[in-house]
Amino acid sequence: MESLISLLFMISGSVALQQDVQAKLGADVTLQCQITTDERISVLKWSRADLNTDGYVYFYRNKRSYENYQHPSFHGRVKLRDPEMKDGDVSLILNNVTFNDTGMYECHVAVRNPVRSKRVHTEISHFINLTVTALQLDVQAKLGDDVSLQCQISRDEIISVLKWSRADLNTDGYIYFYRNKRSYENYQHPSFHGRVKLRDPEMKDGDVSLILKNVTFNDTGMYECYVAVRMPVRSKRGHTEISHFINLTVTGESLPCPQIAPLAHFKNT
Ligand SMILES: *[C@@H]1O[C@H](CO)[C@@H](O)[C@H](O)[C@H]1NC(C)=O
Ligand SMILES: *[C@@H]1O[C@H](CO)[C@@H](O)[C@H](O)[C@H]1NC(C)=O
Ligand SMILES: *[C@@H]1O[C@H](CO)[C@@H](O)[C@H](O)[C@H]1NC(C)=O
Ligand SMILES: *[C@@H]1O[C@H](CO)[C@@H](O)[C@H](O)[C@H]1NC(C)=O
Ligand SMILES: *[C@@H]1O[C@H](CO)[C@@H](O)[C@H](O)[C@H]1NC(C)=O
Ligand SMILES: *[C@@H]1O[C@H](CO)[C@@H](O)[C@H](O)[C@H]1NC(C)=O
Repeated sequence: MESLISLLFMISGSVALQQDVQAKLGADVTLQCQITTDERISVLKWSRADLNTDGYVYFYRNKRSYENYQHPSFHGRVKLRDPEMKDGDVSLILNNVTFNDTGMYECHVAVRNPVRSKRVHTEISHFINLTVTALQLDVQAKLGDDVSLQCQISRDEIISVLKWSRADLNTDGYIYFYRNKRSYENYQHPSFHGRVKLRDPEMKDGDVSLILKNVTFNDTGMYECYVAVRMPVRSKRGHTEISHFINLTVTGESLPCPQIAPLAHFKNT
């Protein structure tokens, strides 16, 4: 890495760029990397320093890519945005990002320069700092409504734990707690007793949405849907944890403009 950095400083006219990119859990993200048009690519390596011992994110040399040099967690999840790398576009598309994809990606390109150039060979590195953030959904409800807090995981996972919670209430219990095929009312925060139920008691197709009845202003807050799943047998990973967040705002029914004054007022009651 150090030699690479010093090398970068020696190459006149090329700069180590760094770009910050944010992506939501499950999204497809494009890691952009572009070199100038008239260079011929001999090697393209997409990598992450923290994974280097187990392989590259993407490796290309002599006009072909090598899957056997690829880190297992990227198998089947990456492709070049332009398979022909036209106009020097060596951007990579990473599908269905997980929290583990957070990290510093390096796009390293070795090019043979056109004959007229003085330098025969150039190496270029761009860096992309990818941050994968949780899904967050903003939901508005009117006082007294029944509201559905949506949360969905993929259908073939087996749910071992489901916890609906609000960080500001955590010391007094969960909104909903489920483990080993049953829910536990004694772990529930008192203000939710008798007011919550699963939209689908069987959680079919991974639907772990919660229905919250007769909302009050006190129900305003950030809800976390946390699911621990055991993966299907054929999967390599044994266990995954997923969190989705729902930002619920309860507004007054007959107030035309409830944002500022009424909420401030109710916070004090
Ligand atoms: C995305 O990845 C998750 C696990 O991280 C998996 O359960 C889901 O099926 C994947 N979705 C797609 C569309 O590949
Ligand atoms: C993330 O990585 C950890 C440890 O490497 C692993 O246990 C976990 O299953 C991974 N999670 C996902 C969603 O890939
Ligand atoms: C990467 O981005 C995240 C959030 O955008 C930031 O907190 C972090 O400091 C960045 N890391 C580096 C090495 O620039
Ligand atoms: C809804 O909650 C309020 C108190 O917050 C209560 O007075 C009212 O009876 C409840 N309505 C229903 C239909 O449960
Ligand atoms: C809202 O919370 C406050 C303080 O926790 C409590 O005194 C009040 O009764 C609650 N209001 C409703 C409608 O639940
Ligand atoms: C939650 O939603 C409200 C209104 O939609 C917004 O004002 C607030 O900033 C959101 N909170 C967060 C943490 O995103």
